[in-house]
Amino acid sequence: MSSPAILVENVTVHYGEVLALDAASLTVEAARICGLVGMNGSGKSTLFKAIMGMVKPDAGRVLINGEPPAKARKRGGIGYVPQSEDVDWQFPLSVHDVVMMGRYGHQGFTRRPSRADRDAVDLALDRVELSEFANRQIGQLSGGQKKRAFVARGIAQGATMMLLDEPFAGVDKRSEATITRLLKELASDGCTILVSTHDLHALPQLCDEAVLLMRRVLMHGPPEVVLQPEHLAMAFGLDVLNRDLPGPIRSDPGLPDPDLPIAGLSNQPGRN
Ligand SMILES: Nc1ncnc2c1ncn2[C@@H]1O[C@H](COP(=O)(O)OP(=O)(O)OP(=O)(O)O)[C@@H](O)[C@H]1O
Ligand SMILES: [Mg+2]
Repeated sequence: MSSPAILVENVTVHYGEVLALDAASLTVEAARICGLVGMNGSGKSTLFKAIMGMVKPDAGRVLINGEPPAKARKRGGIGYVPQSEDVDWQFPLSVHDVVMMGRYGHQGFTRRPSRADRDAVDLALDRVELSEFANRQIGQLSGGQKKRAFVARGIAQGATMMLLDEPFAGVDKRSEATITRLLKELASDGCTILVSTHDLHALPQLCDEAVLLMRRVLMHGPPEVVLQPEHLAMAFGLDVLNRDLPGPIRSDPGLPDPDLPIAGLSNQPGRN
C-alpha cells in the first residue's frame, strides 16, 4: 500500500509551557484539498510548521509521502504560503526574487538561474496574474498580491504539495477567486493541498474535506458534515455560522477543552 501524502501521527508540540498541539493525528491522501479550521490559537500554524519540519514535535511523527519532512523539502516537494504575520515584509526581495526562491532546489550551488528557471518564474507569475509586479519589493504588494506571490513560488518550485496558512485573510474577492481557481487546478494535476481558513462559508466550494482543530484533530470528514453548527460549537464555543460573533474574539480565549466528550465526533475521514 502506498503512503499517504501527509501523515501526522500523535504530534505534540510545546512552546515553553504552552501546549500548541496535543497528540494531533491527521492523514491526507494525494491530490485532495483539505481545509483546516480552528479558532485563533488552536494550533493551525503550528501544524503547518510541524509538517514543514520547522518545529520539532516533542512526541509523534510526520511523514510526507512516507519520508521525513526535511527529505521531502529537499526534493522541493512542498510549497509553503506562510501566515502573513510570519513573514518579514521589509526584506529587500522583489516579487521575482521570492518566486525564484522556489527554483533553488533546481539550481547548482552557485544558485545561478538558468533559462528554464527564469521561464518557470515567468510562467508562475503569469498564472497568479502578477507579471506586472515582478520587480516590486515584496512588502509593497497588497495583501492578496502577497499571497499570490507565495503561491507562485510553490508553482515555480513544481511542488506536489502546497501548505497554505490563511491565504484568504485580508484578500479581496478577485484574489480569492484566483487563489481558489489555482488550488483546484493544482489539485487536479495531482498536488495535495492543506489550507487553513477562517472563511467557513467558502470552505465547501474549495475543499474536498475539512478538519476541525483544537490542539488535536477533533473531526475530519466532508466539509458539509464537519461544518455543522453543533460541531463548530465544539471547536469555537459558539454557533459561528448562524450567529454574528459577539464582539471581538479575545486574544486569550481560554480554549475549549478537547477532552470533553463530543457526541458523534470522529477523527476519521468520512466517518461520523
Ligand atoms: N513562537 C511561539 N512561542 C510561544 N508560543 C507560541 C508561539 N507560536 C505560537 N504559540 C502559541 O501556540 C498556540 C498555537 O498557536 P498557532 O499560531 O499555531 O495557532 P493558530 O491556530 O495558527 O492561530 P491563528 O488563527 O491566530 O493564526 C497559541 O497558544 C500560541 O499563543
Ligand atoms: Mg495561525
